[in-house]
Amino acid sequence: MTIRAVVRGVGHYLPERVVPNSEFEATIDTSDEWIRSRSGIERRHFAAEGQTTSDMATRAAQAALAQAGLVPDDIDAIIVATSTADLTFPSAATMVQARLGMTRGFAYDMQAVCAGFVFALANANALILSAQARRVLVIGAETFSRLMDWNDRTTSVLFGDGAGALVLEGQEGMGDSTDRGILSLDLNSDGRHKDILYVDGGVSTGTTGHLRMMGKEVFRHAVEKLADTAHTALEKAGLTGGDVDWIVPHQANIRIIEATAKRMQVPMDRVIVTVQDHGNTSAASIPLALSVGVARGQIKPGDLIVAEAIGGGLAWGSVVLRW
Ligand code: ACO
Repeated sequence: MTIRAVVRGVGHYLPERVVPNSEFEATIDTSDEWIRSRSGIERRHFAAEGQTTSDMATRAAQAALAQAGLVPDDIDAIIVATSTADLTFPSAATMVQARLGMTRGFAYDMQAVCAGFVFALANANALILSAQARRVLVIGAETFSRLMDWNDRTTSVLFGDGAGALVLEGQEGMGDSTDRGILSLDLNSDGRHKDILYVDGGVSTGTTGHLRMMGKEVFRHAVEKLADTAHTALEKAGLTGGDVDWIVPHQANIRIIEATAKRMQVPMDRVIVTVQDHGNTSAASIPLALSVGVARGQIKPGDLIVAEAIGGGLAWGSVVLRW
């Protein structure tokens, strides 16, 4: 028998305010047509004034716990993947822990920008396989609207806010690729590429800063690296693109999503796409897409999923899991 980290519940939260592309036309030199055709984005949600990453993370966690039929004290650990924690410290995860009324276990944040949720899943998987935790709440939550330079048309139209959460639980499997749960992972980073995607603030400047991106460069790395990492993770699990029921990609740009699926030889009707409604929600985008995929009736128990993401660092990776 092999212990697997199996998804027991999923949920998400999106802030109420929906911002269509047309809203940007009033303030910057852009158009709905440009944004749609270059990115696939039609609208995104923005957090209300005063609404924070830990607020949204808590709402997503509550939805995932309800779906799992669990209460907060059934959870041993909380990992929040985020680059936009409410404060420099403490972690957003400990704030979520307090808000859930959870008085036991441990909580911490994971920061690998848009790839953060994949890294957090790897970490949760390791906690479960090493018996340090039986149930882990893994949350991706972001308020990227607070990192935007609203005068920069090349970045401000691309990002959105939101949160998604999974409850992972250790369950016994057979040790082969028919098992439910996380089957394999592939993680990578290359710090030489810092300058193509970063935030120009932090403790070194005393400001929160704004997101800066060389979009074309990031695009080139994404197309190249995402299919490779997905392929590597599938290979580790003894599977191929032909075994995949759903690719759940990081939702940054429909053209990257399509190019990756093509390189993996998986047709687009087996790809969960939410970028049109959410924009790029960084570490929240994969759990949001998983939750929406389940709510739409696309993802069903037993489906084989490969989720892949790339972001600032550069950091990138993928996970193969059976729902
Ligand atoms: N409206 C109108 N025109 C625009 C806009 C806009 N919002 N933004 C840029 N343009 C202009 C540019 O100024 C440029 O004009 P020029 O030719 O006169 O210089 C022209 O449009 C073309 O710009 P490109 O940057 O070449 O456009 P491209 O087709 O590459 O699309 C985009 C840009 C959407 C940013 C794309 O490169 C992309 O998606 N990159 C990857 C982003 C990504 O994957 N990020 C994920 C990681 S995010 C993270 O980790 C936080």
